Amino acid sequence: MSDLPIPLLRAYPALIPHVPLANLPGHQCPTPVTVSLDHAQLWLKHDDLTNRHYGGNKSRKLAFILGRLQAQGQTQLVTFGGTGTNHGLACAVHCQALGIGCEVLLFDQPPSASVTANFRAMQQAGARLTPCGSLLRTVLTYYGRALLSRLQPASRTAYLFAGGSSVEGVLAFIDAAFELREQVAAGLCPEPECIVCPVGSGATLAGLTLGVALAGLRSRVIGVRVAPSHLGPFAACTTGTVAALMSATVKRLRAYGVTSPVLQNLPAPVLLDHYYGEGYGVASAAGQDAASWFLQQRWADERFVTVEGTYTAKALAALRDQLAQTSGPVLYWHTLNSSAEAFA
Ligand SMILES: Cc1ncc(COP(=O)(O)O)c(C=O)c1O
Repeated sequence: MSDLPIPLLRAYPALIPHVPLANLPGHQCPTPVTVSLDHAQLWLKHDDLTNRHYGGNKSRKLAFILGRLQAQGQTQLVTFGGTGTNHGLACAVHCQALGIGCEVLLFDQPPSASVTANFRAMQQAGARLTPCGSLLRTVLTYYGRALLSRLQPASRTAYLFAGGSSVEGVLAFIDAAFELREQVAAGLCPEPECIVCPVGSGATLAGLTLGVALAGLRSRVIGVRVAPSHLGPFAACTTGTVAALMSATVKRLRAYGVTSPVLQNLPAPVLLDHYYGEGYGVASAAGQDAASWFLQQRWADERFVTVEGTYTAKALAALRDQLAQTSGPVLYWHTLNSSAEAFA
């Protein structure tokens, strides 16, 4: 067991034997919260700082995901994402640090400076990169390989869905909600009236929605869809896919001995569709406008914040609207890595 601070295990000691955590070098949760000096109700949760070497929401999940992988004696990870996937880069960086082999299957994504930088950084972090063409072809390749691996009992390769959306990924964000509750209790920030986060593969929203309810916070968690809702006939980013992640996690929590009235009556995830624009990775005008507004905010902790067009800008467009409609504190959950180290 690592020496990571883990509010979830403090809240539910029954989970201790079941939730192994990887000792990720550079891990630095709890992440700070800060307030805007220009808007007294605007708060920011610094998940850009989850890890000194490479942060963001993916690194928060990977402490849980790679912990289970190690506990199961697996030595290789296969996952998938777009050409400039943040998730793939987080996997590459943290797998390298832990001596785990990492392969990322890549689907085509519109080119941009951040896509190129992430692709190069994944190469630099020693990941095996396998371009597969379209998203659909990549998903089929992933499932085909995962199925073959299951037929080989000696395989020590773990298959991780895009974005780290697994039960462990959701547990990481339940833990994050308990982390926020501790920060509220310590007077570091007010209880948010609403929390806004971008949604791609869904684990961040699933974990925060469940975690906020379990932690007894009254905040409304609002997800902003930035990925396609469907892949062909298959739902990919919908309230249904988020609810399915929540249900799978609840099943696991029950099996591990957690009891709570929340587990009998799950909150419904909230997912806003209308900030998506023309496609995954295609910047939207509303997003660009909100990103400029956001970059002008001055923060009490004086930290520098970065944004991009695929995830954060679209969530920021929703954030600005929520701020205009809400009288109480609004917390923006900032999911984008801000460490430059992986790109050096
Ligand atoms: C910066 C950033 N924010 C948000 C998300 C979406 O998180 P989730 O996949 O948990 O929905 C991603 C996913 O890739 C991301 O890279």
